[in-house]
Amino acid sequence: MIPLSRPDITEEDIEKVVKVLKSGRLSLGDHTRKFGEVVAQYVGARYGWPVSSGTAALHLILESLDVKEGALVLVPSFTFIASVNVILMKRAVPVFVDVDRRTLNVSSETLEHAIERCLKGFKQGDVHIKGVPRFFMAVDVFGHPLDWDGVLEVCSRYGITVIEDSCEALGSEYKGKKTGTFGVAGAFAFYPNKQITTGEGGVVVTDSEQIFKLVKSMSNQGRGEDEKWLYHVRFGYNYRIDEMSAALGLSQMRRIDRILEKRSEAADRYSKMLKDLPWVQVPVVEEYVTRMSWFVYVIRLNGPDRDRVMKYMEEKGAQVRNYFHPVHLQPFYEKTFGNMKGLLPVTEEESERTLALPFFTNISPKEQERVVEVLKEAVERVG
Ligand SMILES: Cc1ncc(COP(=O)(O)O)c(C=O)c1O
Repeated sequence: MIPLSRPDITEEDIEKVVKVLKSGRLSLGDHTRKFGEVVAQYVGARYGWPVSSGTAALHLILESLDVKEGALVLVPSFTFIASVNVILMKRAVPVFVDVDRRTLNVSSETLEHAIERCLKGFKQGDVHIKGVPRFFMAVDVFGHPLDWDGVLEVCSRYGITVIEDSCEALGSEYKGKKTGTFGVAGAFAFYPNKQITTGEGGVVVTDSEQIFKLVKSMSNQGRGEDEKWLYHVRFGYNYRIDEMSAALGLSQMRRIDRILEKRSEAADRYSKMLKDLPWVQVPVVEEYVTRMSWFVYVIRLNGPDRDRVMKYMEEKGAQVRNYFHPVHLQPFYEKTFGNMKGLLPVTEEESERTLALPFFTNISPKEQERVVEVLKEAVERVG
């Protein structure tokens, strides 16, 4: 089986984790603090604080911004469910935004359209939405940055605060500036399918001292700045990362540039292998992307039946996925908000054609050739 993803773990990574285990200090140590600093420095933010997951990172950002119950939060539906779930955790209202057909990201046009819809008032499923959206949960989907100049211009015109879900995009750059740094705070995630992994984990990055301090405190049960035990100055959670995970993250960050290079080489190989197949649309990287940090490699099928192709490929040993099934069409969201089919035409059309191929840092050209062979065979036989 060629897996969809596989973490890149070296002997050095293992040694670093074992060293922590032998040290006896398994939580709230130097590795945690340092990992936050290293990620912040890498992306060009003033502060960084690691937590137990990307979801925790996003939740804490919203907590630190004091998002009120009922607040309208713009968010794509073409994303991983956590981008939207954290909005519900605050009892705020997600307002789904459609995406650009090329990049599959929210664009200034789709964002403005969603804002105008809110101002006029509209039905999102069974829920009547009317008002000024206060926040935008921006997602750099699959590692590809948004077209930030236009998006930020729209947000500033309407007074909208931007939170950047950059969980899939560590290292990507928009016109020379790293993702995660375009909003008031950004989140990264390190599940084993990500560019770097900590097993489970995430990091909040921000230039705001206030957000940093709140995130740090709330990730540790609302303890005060002195971190005194059994003394809590605000509401909080246990969203701490452990020292083993932080040490693994630090070790992986030491070779982040090489990791991103290898992923880029693998993406280029796929694009070359697939370029002459008329029924395949390879992923687009826009000109404003000065560095693409590839999270997944997602093609779109023009014609062949995606679900039948997927099933065939899985049977032949190539693990593939339908990244993303839109959030607004997920059973839980339909139960909560009612039937929203038809709300986001581009998201709905494109998500029926997407197919994520096996993709990871050390995928070999041979494995990629085999994947493409199985894909061609699938289209010939069942597409
Ligand atoms: C866009 C996006 N947001 C949020 C998350 C949540 O991260 P985690 O799985 O670490 O909680 C992910 C991770 O898969 C993601 O891809």
